[in-house]
Amino acid sequence: MMKSFTSAVLLGAVVVSAYPAAWGGALSTPNAHHASSTLSSYGAGQTPFTFPLAIGFPNVSDATLRDIEEQAHGTLPNGALPTELNATSVTVLQLIAFNEAFEVAFFTSLLQNITDNVSGYQIDSHVLREFVLETLIAVQAQEELHFLGANGILASAGQTQIQPCEYVFPVDNFDDAINLARTFTDVVLGTLQDAQNAFATDGDAELVALIGSVIGQEGEQNGYYRSLLNLIPSSNPFLTRSAGPFAFSALNQDFVVNGSCPPADNALFAALPIFGALTVDTKNIEPKDQTLTFSISSHASDISNYSLVLINQQNLPIVEKITNVKSSYGIITFDAEFPGATFIMDGLTIAAVTKSAGPFADVPSVAAATVFGPGLIEVN
Ligand SMILES: *[C@@H]1O[C@H](CO)[C@@H](O)[C@H](O)[C@H]1NC(C)=O
Ligand SMILES: *[C@@H]1O[C@H](CO)[C@@H](O)[C@H](O)[C@H]1NC(C)=O
Ligand SMILES: *[C@@H]1O[C@H](CO)[C@@H](O)[C@H](O)[C@H]1NC(C)=O
Ligand SMILES: *[C@@H]1O[C@H](CO)[C@@H](O)[C@H](O)[C@H]1NC(C)=O
Ligand SMILES: *[C@@H]1O[C@H](CO)[C@@H](O)[C@H](O)[C@H]1NC(C)=O
Ligand SMILES: *[C@@H]1O[C@H](CO)[C@@H](O)[C@H](O)[C@H]1NC(C)=O
Repeated sequence: MMKSFTSAVLLGAVVVSAYPAAWGGALSTPNAHHASSTLSSYGAGQTPFTFPLAIGFPNVSDATLRDIEEQAHGTLPNGALPTELNATSVTVLQLIAFNEAFEVAFFTSLLQNITDNVSGYQIDSHVLREFVLETLIAVQAQEELHFLGANGILASAGQTQIQPCEYVFPVDNFDDAINLARTFTDVVLGTLQDAQNAFATDGDAELVALIGSVIGQEGEQNGYYRSLLNLIPSSNPFLTRSAGPFAFSALNQDFVVNGSCPPADNALFAALPIFGALTVDTKNIEPKDQTLTFSISSHASDISNYSLVLINQQNLPIVEKITNVKSSYGIITFDAEFPGATFIMDGLTIAAVTKSAGPFADVPSVAAATVFGPGLIEVN
């Protein structure tokens, strides 16, 4: 479902060496694959979503902000904001704002489609239609406040605020849109763990609790999306860990129109890598031990000594051998084992092709060795 639209933009090659591996260290090693991209019929045929919204967002007056807060059922935090930030924290907050701008675009488009009864988005039950709309109106406003909140902290510390890009969404019906929402929300839930870890260790620990409040909020959303998909609301005891470069890569590979981001976002593109796209070719993956097929777009002839790493819940990354490598017209397909039953790999699994076979002690180490990824696998 994911990975059908790919765009990779790497503006400049500035590496800020003070950043830990998870937040850009991977860029400091040459990565010949960062610009690989494939365009699917979905993304290619779509009119991109552009800002500003009708209300002016991302630029809002005080009166408009108040309207957003009423729709969001709450306000931006009204306490003092930091006036200084570690460079790592700046990248983290810029990535959060970058992701939230996409989410605002997605939920605005979804709301519009349901409201307009676009084919594929018609909800016959009046009661359900009203409830979905009421829910998504709140979500859209809440994501707007997440964006404005992250940018507000950046502004308070004298740092560049993120501006939205143009976006496409690789879905054309309600069910797929909700499935996509639960998948990218799972990635966010994993990435905010990385954000908390960064703030806790780089001198900006005062932001850890704020991020905790957003993790719970996104988790509430995801329980609803999962329920709509007839899945139990809570997927796992411990949600899957991600890392900044995986989230940034997925956003750019799947949703952001290549080259559409304004100069305000250049520092983020310089700080984080965009990996080559990794497509999970096996569909409807069941919770059992099995062999999965993946593909990448690359002319590199020998990937058999790379590894396929699987990240699920809070467990040690699983390293699998790459087998059955076939290359045809710039597309390389290969197989790797997925021990879904052995490790009870429900929920999100992040797959990555890495240069080394590890072993990896944590997820940031996987990101630092990644060449292609993330491949996003959802089970149950
Ligand atoms: C919002 O305002 C900023 C600063 O004035 C401007 O650069 C940006 O283009 C505006 N964004 C939109 C989408 O109008
Ligand atoms: C809204 O509908 C259009 C037309 O089918 C589609 O291209 C777009 O992806 C939809 N947006 C969402 C968020 O589902
Ligand atoms: C969409 O369909 C609902 C009934 O399901 C109807 O009440 C509403 O007026 C329609 N809206 C538009 C814009 O066609
Ligand atoms: C910024 O955080 C890094 C760790 O990520 C740390 O080494 C550095 O000392 C911090 N800088 C300041 C000014 O606190
Ligand atoms: C995306 O942008 C980069 C840099 O501007 C360019 O090299 C690449 O060809 C573009 N890819 C697509 C698919 O447009
Ligand atoms: C894979 O093996 C070939 C041949 O031994 C070697 O040249 C190449 O550097 C290896 N690549 C990696 C990623 O280890």
